[in-house]
This record gives sequence, structure tokens and C-alpha cells, in this order.
Amino acid sequence: MNTIFENKKAVVVGGSSGIGLATAQILANSKAIVTITGRDPNKLKQLQQTTALQTQAVDSTSREALDAFFKQTGPIDHLVISVSGAKGMGNFAELSLQDLREGFEGKFWPQLNTLQAALPYINKTGSITLITAISSIAKKPGTSGLAAINGSLELMVPVLARELQPIRINAVSPGVVDTPWWNFVPEEAKQETFKQFTGNIPAGRAATATEIAEAVIFTLSNNYMTGSVIHCDGGFSLM
Ligand SMILES: NC(=O)c1ccc[n+]([C@@H]2O[C@H](COP(=O)([O-])OP(=O)(O)OC[C@H]3O[C@@H](n4cnc5c(N)ncnc54)[C@H](OP(=O)(O)O)[C@@H]3O)[C@@H](O)[C@H]2O)c1
Repeated sequence: MNTIFENKKAVVVGGSSGIGLATAQILANSKAIVTITGRDPNKLKQLQQTTALQTQAVDSTSREALDAFFKQTGPIDHLVISVSGAKGMGNFAELSLQDLREGFEGKFWPQLNTLQAALPYINKTGSITLITAISSIAKKPGTSGLAAINGSLELMVPVLARELQPIRINAVSPGVVDTPWWNFVPEEAKQETFKQFTGNIPAGRAATATEIAEAVIFTLSNNYMTGSVIHCDGGFSLM
């Protein structure tokens, strides 16, 4: 077994579900010491009881809560930021700008809040990975708001790679992924939506959370990766 993560300290913010949880589980299976965060204490309690993950309820919209959390974790080797909201989608002519604002409040600001609070604690040999979204470049009608949120984060990555060196920072930009993020859609309609969005892309289907987590793990483990945005989208952005 690869031992590069053995006894390394990793924090996965937004790690109680979906891509964050899949990443945390790979890291824990590789013997890293992993703490996950999220807002829902019940979800975290269940994971604390059933996995090797340490859990802590921290709302990434609160800088105060984040400061207290990172003070408690102390130095860390790897930080993955997987939080998101779900707002900001729709054709621009009808898009509620209030919804778009809430989209930024749910993803852009919490990711930056987390990153800034964590910086003093990230080891010089460590890494940071943001989870963005392929809407940043996919040019799909109805996604200009999501392009703004995720594109803004992705544009920051190369600049931060220079500012934060030698700490590495990258982003993983997924296409459609079958995670609880989609739970607002009833199961049958969800399968229909996936078919609509991904039926014609080269991969022909939505990704699993683990497939995206494997791309995240690559950014953590490869010491030569920094300032990059990895598109793990099954070819979604080619269409
Ligand atoms: N699923 C997709 O199709 C897809 C596609 C492209 C990009 N992405 C991106 O991938 C990332 C992960 O999404 P996912 O699909 O894995 O979603 P998910 O299953 O809904 O997981 C999101 C995680 O973030 C946590 N979270 C949300 N807001 C938070 C906050 N303010 N503070 C702390 N934790 C918070 C959630 O826990 P609580 O709710 O308990 O807080 C949960 O652990 C997101 O950035 C999303 O935009 C997803």
C-alpha cells in the first residue's frame, strides 16, 4: 500500500457527504488522520460512530467558528474544501440576482473564508484543494451564474499558488456527479436529469463521488501539482 498519507493530518471541509466524504474515506483508508466538517451535527455524529473519521460541526459561513476550529486542529498537511450551496442556476434574463447572491454566499465566500482561516495552520509541505465545478468553462445556457461563482474561484487558484508557495493549491472541477447534492430532485426525476445532462457526453453518465475524489487525491499526492484546475467531467465541457 502507498504510505504517503500515513499519519498525515487532513481536514475535509464539507466532508460529511458526497465528494468530500469520498475523499475523506480514501484518505482514512490510506492511514491519514482525517477530520471532516459540515453543518448538520446528526450526519456528523453518525459518521463519527461508523467510520474512522473525526468530525466537527463548523459552518463555513462563520469566520469565528472557522478560526476556533483551526486553532483546535493545529498544523495540518492537507486541506480539501468541498462546501457548496445550490443556488444561482437559470437563464440570465429570468435569473433572480438575489438567488445568485445566495449562490455566492453558499459557495464562493465560505470557500474563501475557510481558506483564509486555515492558512496559518497549513504546513509548508502541505496542499490545498478547492472543489469548483465545470460550469466555469462549460458555456451551457442556464449556468452563467454558476460560471461566475466557480470561475471566480478557479481564476484565483494560479495567483494563490504564487502567493502561498511553497504550499500547493489546486482545484478539481467536476461535471455532473451523483451525490446527495441532487437530493432536492426526486429519485426518478434525478435519473432523468442525469440522462439529459450526461447521456450524450463521452462518458455517457454522471460520475460517482469516488471518481472525483480520486482526482482530488492526485492533487494532494503529487508534489509537483500547483496552480492547476483539473477538469474531471467525463467530457461534459467538450459538448
Ligand atoms: N454533485 C454535483 O453534480 C457537482 C457538480 C459540480 C461541482 N460540484 C461541487 O462539488 C462540491 C461538493 O458537492 P457534493 O456534490 O459532494 O455535495 P454534497 O453531497 O451536498 O456535500 C456538500 C458538503 O458540504 C457541506 N456544507 C455545505 N455548506 C456548508 C457550510 N456552509 N459549512 C460547512 N459545510 C457545508 C455539507 O454538509 P452540511 O449540509 O451538513 O453542511 C456536505 O458535507 C461542491 O462545491 C459542489 O458545488 C458538485
